[in-house]
Amino acid sequence: ATERTFSILKPDATKRNLTGAVNAVIEEAGLRIVGQRRIQMSRAQAEKFYEVHKERPFFGELVEFMTSGPVVVQVLEGENAVAKYREVMGATNPAQAAEGTIRKRFAQSVGENTVHGSDSAENAAIEIAQFFGEGDIAG
Ligand code: CMP
Repeated sequence: ATERTFSILKPDATKRNLTGAVNAVIEEAGLRIVGQRRIQMSRAQAEKFYEVHKERPFFGELVEFMTSGPVVVQVLEGENAVAKYREVMGATNPAQAAEGTIRKRFAQSVGENTVHGSDSAENAAIEIAQFFGEGDIAG
């Protein structure tokens, strides 16, 4: 079924001027960018977004990194968009990511791993609502 997922092009991507290159991979995979905004995430936004990880040892580092520069938040739409985008991104750790994936091609480390994508349709809806109103999305 056609569904939506939430994506973030992380600060390592904006810093290295890779947003167009990453978007090309997304679009070549057949995913449609139906919402997109470049923002500076506040500490509060990052802490809320990554709330499920707040007990993890890397939480502080994660929030620091995600607020270290601009990010591009996106809504992607397509057939099985959640699973499709996770496949296109590759493994969280770029050292384990498959050839041709975004993380294999562009990511520098498990922390600076270029992109975020929702892990379920349910979380996608929650994440999209944190950054977009229906009026900011045009399919
Ligand atoms: P993301 O999909 O954005 O969701 C949680 C993030 O935590 C994950 O991508 C990684 O970038 C980050 N992360 C996971 N493990 C580590 C780690 N060991 N050190 C730093 N960041 C991590």
